[in-house]
Amino acid sequence: MIEAGDLTTYKPKVIVFSYTEELDQFATSRFVEQMTAKPHSVLTLPTGSTPKGMYDLLVKLRRAQDADFNGLTIYNLDEYWPIKRDHPSSYTQYMRENFINHVNVRNDRWHIPNGEARDANDEAAYYEDLLCQSGRVDLAIIGIGPGTTCHIGFNERGSSIESRTRYMPLDEQTRQVNSRFFRDPNEIPSGTITQGVANILEAKSILLLAKGESKAWGINQTLNGPIGPEFPSSYLRYHPDVTVAIDQAAAGLLSR
Ligand code: PGA
Repeated sequence: MIEAGDLTTYKPKVIVFSYTEELDQFATSRFVEQMTAKPHSVLTLPTGSTPKGMYDLLVKLRRAQDADFNGLTIYNLDEYWPIKRDHPSSYTQYMRENFINHVNVRNDRWHIPNGEARDANDEAAYYEDLLCQSGRVDLAIIGIGPGTTCHIGFNERGSSIESRTRYMPLDEQTRQVNSRFFRDPNEIPSGTITQGVANILEAKSILLLAKGESKAWGINQTLNGPIGPEFPSSYLRYHPDVTVAIDQAAAGLLSR
């Protein structure tokens, strides 16, 4: 955990996988290891295209009766706002379809910001309170934004290291890339409610997953660029326990 004023930098552990399936398997194993070592773990979890393979494997494990999710408390990183919970492109629906409906996570222990809330700031404050009540997150599994966004959660450029759960308007680049998930691209909501950078950095351990060429610039910047609000993922270098698990395309700009 980062104490106020402690800005020691660390080198994240970087693992490059030749095949997507290996990366998915690695993320799944890390998830299961955490759950086995501490069945009542508190986890922060991502949505999007990157973790889909991990969720598929976790569901398979559950079907084979090889995994018990009953003790977990889960906080999602973010949700669009405004959006109906049942909207096919909401992250609530993503989580239900890809994970929650197929495993034995307790409903009262799965949390995601409410995209239907009338006031995004009130909802963010409520979510922040809930998150803090659960104590320290044991493992945060996160993705990274495309292109030059370097977002973690939806902490877009300009996010401070002290930022906490809040309403964030979508960055233009993010809007363009993520609109592909909406039947009508113009339907993409104007903003999100996201855990802040500080919330993410408070986790005991962080696993960053990235796949594809569109993440190569961000991954290189995260590991080798200047640290600061223009590159929110670069703050991860202030955390002593970060693993960056990526495919070869996402590693494309790292020097060998
Ligand atoms: P993706 O999203 O997994 O769909 O690439 C990641 C992100 O934007 O943080």
